[in-house]
Amino acid sequence: MPHDIAWQHDAAARVAATALGPCAEHRGRVEETGDGVAMISGLRNARLDELLRFDSGAVGFAQVLEPDQIGCVLLDEAAGLQAGDAVRGTGDVVRVPVGAGLLGRIVDPLGRPLDGKGPVQGASLSPIERKAPGIIERDLVTDPVQTGVLVVDTLFALGRGQRELIIGDPATGKTTLAIDTIIAQRHSDMVCIYVAVGQKTSAVRRAVDALQTHAAFDRCIVVVAGSATPPGLQWIAPFAGMTMAEHVRDAGGHALIVIDDLSRHAATHREIALLTRQSPGREAYPGDVFYVHARLLERAAKLSAANGGGSLTALPIAQTEAGNLAAYIPTNLISITDGQIVLDAALFQQGQKPAVNVGVSVSRVGGKTQALALRNAAKSLRLDYAQFLEMEVFTRFGGVIEPRVQAKLTRGTRLRAVLRQDQHAPLRLIDEVALVLAVQNGVLDALTVKAVDAFRDGLAGALDAQLADLLVRVEATGILTNDDHAALLELLQKRAAPDG
Ligand SMILES: Nc1ncnc2c1ncn2[C@@H]1O[C@H](COP(=O)(O)OP(=O)(O)O)[C@@H](O)[C@H]1O
Ligand SMILES: [Mg+2]
Repeated sequence: MPHDIAWQHDAAARVAATALGPCAEHRGRVEETGDGVAMISGLRNARLDELLRFDSGAVGFAQVLEPDQIGCVLLDEAAGLQAGDAVRGTGDVVRVPVGAGLLGRIVDPLGRPLDGKGPVQGASLSPIERKAPGIIERDLVTDPVQTGVLVVDTLFALGRGQRELIIGDPATGKTTLAIDTIIAQRHSDMVCIYVAVGQKTSAVRRAVDALQTHAAFDRCIVVVAGSATPPGLQWIAPFAGMTMAEHVRDAGGHALIVIDDLSRHAATHREIALLTRQSPGREAYPGDVFYVHARLLERAAKLSAANGGGSLTALPIAQTEAGNLAAYIPTNLISITDGQIVLDAALFQQGQKPAVNVGVSVSRVGGKTQALALRNAAKSLRLDYAQFLEMEVFTRFGGVIEPRVQAKLTRGTRLRAVLRQDQHAPLRLIDEVALVLAVQNGVLDALTVKAVDAFRDGLAGALDAQLADLLVRVEATGILTNDDHAALLELLQKRAAPDG
């Protein structure tokens, strides 16, 4: 059974195979070819993932090993490849460039330039499949990733080394949320890698434009395998991006990888599996699709001090149909990651953007990393919001509303307004703390929802102008002292006052 082999063949064995180095050259013959794969006979000693070279110049890698045939996934268009062509095993695996030369570049999954700026400079090569760090090499996730998105940082905080799934229907703001998180790193030490798998050219263009305009693009790497590229290139893209990110992590640095998206990747995996005649399982995916994604995301980690203390945070994206989180690929990915941010089409249509469904989203490790100032301010936010949403549904049926309930509704409506945020406009920690304090202390209760928008829009400028020292202190320590708390609240109340 081909995928029994795949199942048993864990990442460790893959790396070990690399270490063996080249073996005696062996040759085979193309039996059949089409749609980005080739079936090959004769290469008896080929190993899983081995790089195969065709006499026509094309390359591919062994994805399926059967007793009499190999399923090879092509890494190029491979026009002109036909039955009878000769093929050689190389004894090597697929490798991609890593290193500083990639920063600020847009490349394909093999590191070939797509930005017309010439070859990637001074990069070394590293295999796309690498062993994930073991438990001993890891450390607990303790440092925050400031996403600059209020609803995420307050309710579903992320930590460095965490894997958080962004999931939702088409056009609910998944890509935007991930891109905005990268944009928010423009003043941090993170290297950000955006991997586009199977996306339309227009969508990739929009994402890259946003990064080039708003992010620190010289600390970003963009890996593109669009929907029109051969399935083999799409298949390796997330693995290639991971290898590039690991290079940063292993040097003691901090990397953030966005994989947009793993639903497309799963579809590509299924397509390849069907073409190489692996037996289909649930929803026609081959049985090893869970293992493929688990192996990939396991490589995100926070390393222990003894291993350099670097981190690799992963934000994989998945797409749902009609909000169905119980489909095969979504449930797989939800169980592999440390939480999920669920985007909701109905909220998006109502104009509540980012359209985070607060009831079903969760972050399992990041909460502990939240800056103290924000954690204290946002302590009861989630419960308050949940209660408000529930009350809102009940009061919709009409009837007399008690003053206590009315007060909660007023507060909740202001909170919802504050959680709305434009794209590409990341907030600083201090902006977030100030907004949450304003809501929770009732400063915004007397304002109309429209006035809340104006209040929010002018807030950063007011903080800069009037509380410059406090701002620096809070950004540096993450702590709001009692005096600072009082000063901040005073400024907020003044701004919300009718003549403020
Ligand atoms: N917070 C936001 N504010 C305003 N527009 C947004 C916001 N988030 C997303 N959008 C817009 O919604 C559209 C769909 O977003 P996109 O991120 O491409 O969705 P998806 O990746 O889920 O398909 C885009 O035009 C995007 O600009
Ligand atoms: Mg998208």
